[in-house]
Formats: sequence, C-alpha cells, structure tokens
Amino acid sequence: MQPEAATPYGLIDDAALVVQGGRIAWVGDRAALAPFWSEQASEQHDCGGALITPGLIDCHTHLVYGGDRANEFELRLNGASYEEIARAGGGIASTVQATRAASEDDLFAQSLPRLNALMAEGVTTLEIKSGYGLSLEHERKCLRVARRLGAQAGIAVRTTFLGAHALPPEFTGRADEYIDAVLQMLPALHEEGLVDAVDAFCERIAFSTAQTERVFTAAKALGLPVKLHAEQLSDSGGAQLAARFGALSCDHLEWLGEEGAKAMAQAGTVAVLLPGAFYFLRETKLPPVAMLREHGVPMAISTDCNPGSSPCTSILLMLNMACTLFRLTPEEAWAGVTRHAALALGLADRGALAQGMRADFVLWDVRSPAQLVYPMGLNPRRATVIDGNLQ
Ligand code: NIG
Ligand code: FE
Repeated sequence: MQPEAATPYGLIDDAALVVQGGRIAWVGDRAALAPFWSEQASEQHDCGGALITPGLIDCHTHLVYGGDRANEFELRLNGASYEEIARAGGGIASTVQATRAASEDDLFAQSLPRLNALMAEGVTTLEIKSGYGLSLEHERKCLRVARRLGAQAGIAVRTTFLGAHALPPEFTGRADEYIDAVLQMLPALHEEGLVDAVDAFCERIAFSTAQTERVFTAAKALGLPVKLHAEQLSDSGGAQLAARFGALSCDHLEWLGEEGAKAMAQAGTVAVLLPGAFYFLRETKLPPVAMLREHGVPMAISTDCNPGSSPCTSILLMLNMACTLFRLTPEEAWAGVTRHAALALGLADRGALAQGMRADFVLWDVRSPAQLVYPMGLNPRRATVIDGNLQ
C-alpha cells in the first residue's frame, strides 16, 4: 500500500519493495524494479502473493497499569455508570492504587502480554501514556516500564506524560494544587528523557480547561507537543483549547462540536477515534465523523488499551469497529491505523510504504485490505518487519 496513489489504498498489484539500512529504498511495480537492486541484494524474498501493509500504529494506549477492573465491569452491568463509579472513588483511582502497589518489574510483567497481543496483530509503533501513577515516583515508574517494553520487544514506543489524568486521593478537593505538582513532575521526567508528548484529561470528572491550559503552557515551554482527551463525556471546549496549542491530536471526541472541529482542522490536529471505549462504555453518542470529514480533519483509530474504558489489545478489531460502529470506510480505517496515526504522534517517517520511510511493514495472508477489516477475531499475519528487521 502506498499513500496518495491513484488506486484505492494505493495498492500495487505485483510489487517489489527494497529495504536498505532500515529504510525503504525503493517500492513500486515489480516490472519497474531496476536490475541493480536484485544484483546487489544480500537477501531476496518471494512473498508469495502476501498483502504487504505499513506496520500498524496504535497511537493512544494506557497499556502500562496494575491490576484490572473486571469488578467494575460487573458493577456497570448491575446498573452503575462509569461516571458514578469514578465519583465514588473507583474508576481510574482504583487502577492508581494497583499501579502504585506494583514494583517496576511487576508492572513490566503485567504489561508485557498486552504489548505482545498488539504486536501479534502487526503493531510496529505504539504510544504509551502514564497517568496511573499520579506522583513523581509512580509516573516515573510507569514511563520507565514503557521505555523498557519498547527496548525489550524491539518496537518503537512513544511515551506520553498524562499526569493530569485524574486527581489522586491525597489531593481530594485540591485540584489546582495537584496541577502545581504535575507542573513539577513534568520537567523532572522530561530531563530523564522519559517524555515525548504531554496529554491531559479535560472533562467534568477530571480537569477543567483552565487547568489543562496550565499543563499545556508548561509543555510548550519545554518544547513538548501536546494531545488531549477531549469531549469524551461532554463538550467542554477542550478541542479549541488544544488546537490553540497546536495539539498533535484530540482523542475520543464523541461530544465534539463544530467550532472544535473547525479549530482542529485549522491547527492540523488529528481526531483520534476510540471505538473500543465507545463500545465498552456502551455509549450511544457517536463521534461526528461526517463533520470531521467535511472539515478535512484527519481521523486516526486506536485501541485506547486501558483497564477502565477499553480493555482492548486488538487493533484489528478496532479497524472493524471503526467501520461498524463509526461508519468509517475500510480505507479511512486503514489510514487511521497507519498514516493518520503517525501524524497523531508527530512522526513523519512512518505510516506509509514509500521511499525514505522506515522499513516497518507487515505481510498478511490475504488479497485485499478489506479482508483484514471485515473479520472479527481472525489474524492472518504472516510476518512483521520493524526497522528493517524481520521479527
Ligand atoms: O482514555 N478518558 C480517560 N482515560 C481513559 C480511561 C481510563 C480509565 O478508566 O482507567 C480513556 O478512556
Ligand atoms: Fe485514553
């Protein structure tokens, strides 16, 4: 698959792909391949009719956390709502407790199976947020685990500091003071090389736009890009605020209004849609996909892998649900886990099979991209190459 080509998905029927030094050196019609590439190649592979796609990019996860929230799932099915549970001290706060109680090694061991599951479905780059530590010590632990996961699994991990995810119990009733604490954590973690971007949860059960703005101002002062959990449960104007800060992405967006969409379009902010959270919380308000299309806002798709709203480790299922639940076309869904997901992470070197891009790609035992969107549960991945290395 190639970007901006004349055919749907940019598909080439009988293609050749040349990898050199971890980059794509050439890609195109096999018939047009210059002979010297084959002559000087150290290895050649006949992919035997496999479909080759860019490596999948999961651009929004909270994959590092302790414990699970199966009990709350049960409470919800007995009538409690996500917001009620959060207000009663459960929700994110209960994961914070379990995450704080876990050692770094323990957290690593708990998180690794989730990473393995994503990689088994062809994920080659993923973002991991902190946000279940909520103190310098525990946020650091989560970000260090995220970095270690990437190093051990040989996958590109982008880390996002989400200190402003929820109010930790020791700050109850003192949200502004907690934001002061977040503003102290940020430069310390950044100095340790643990932060690629900064996120916040702007919502009536989390932080206000004024508090979010303080976090964004601090991020910008350090030269860090921002992202925002915005308009998930209500339209709080978070998207406009994020756009003012040139945010890489606004995520969730079920309640996004037209002003927010326009602001995002102008700022080039990606809309990250999270069908797993919509499904798992049994939401009924759909994100305004037609409006995003109309304003030309690029849409990405992600698992939102987290214990509370989307305990999901299947990017292929998200491709399917983006279409069935949100009515994206399969082609839009594919852009959502490849080039638009790369944009949402500010990465210009991946998300498409084109000359000069990182050699991150997946071989699948199917003939067409739609065959990967349509099933629920089948995984026809044959092989993954990350940074030019066969996994
Ligand atoms: O992306 N919205 C905020 N954060 C997560 C949920 C966190 C949780 O419930 O543990 C999300 O949906
Ligand atoms: Fe999230």
